[in-house]
Amino acid sequence: MTQELVFQYSTVNAHARANLKKQRPAVIWFTGLSGAGKSTLANALEQALFELGHHTYLLDGDNVRMGLCRDLGFSDTDREENIRRVAEVAQLFVDAGVIVITAFISPFQRDRAMAREVISTDRFIEVFVDTPLVECERRDPKGLYDKARSGLIRNFTGIDSAYEVPINPDIRINTQEEAIATGVQKILEYLDLKNHSS
Ligand code: ADX
Repeated sequence: MTQELVFQYSTVNAHARANLKKQRPAVIWFTGLSGAGKSTLANALEQALFELGHHTYLLDGDNVRMGLCRDLGFSDTDREENIRRVAEVAQLFVDAGVIVITAFISPFQRDRAMAREVISTDRFIEVFVDTPLVECERRDPKGLYDKARSGLIRNFTGIDSAYEVPINPDIRINTQEEAIATGVQKILEYLDLKNHSS
């Protein structure tokens, strides 16, 4: 499919774009069940980075599925394609010099590994939002667990579709034990440590 294509290089390259923004681009990849707190954490993290003067962009599951991925559902293959597109878009933002935050369930280990590969391992920070299913169900902010339990929604993650727990995430946040601000602080410290944020 790609054999007739030749990659075109631009004279303004990734390094130059990042330098102009005075930051080291990266992708902070949140994964976890629906209702785990990914979007809340992602939003708070973007706010904190923004206030520190960073150039950021947030890609959120529900929003991306209303546009770029509106043709996709929740079968395993559609989720794979969803994550593939998100990884490619995130990589374009990284190339543009931006710090990207993604909030997708991304339930399958192999798809997260693929995203890490597309983005490059030293720029990919996996954050496991480790909220137990019982707690996500108790919160049920969108009423979707209720619908899934009563059979109105099929292939719902944690109910009748798998969530593969990250084996070795860069950061783990338990939203039952840690406040949002503590989680954000943990990520900011990690970024400093890895020299991603300046
Ligand atoms: S992913 O599995 O492909 O990574 P994504 O994060 O984009 O999922 O979308 C998840 C969101 O879609 C959930 O937060 C929820 O609002 C909604 N949703 C609707 N149907 C499902 C389903 N069957 N499983 C999981 N989430 C669903």
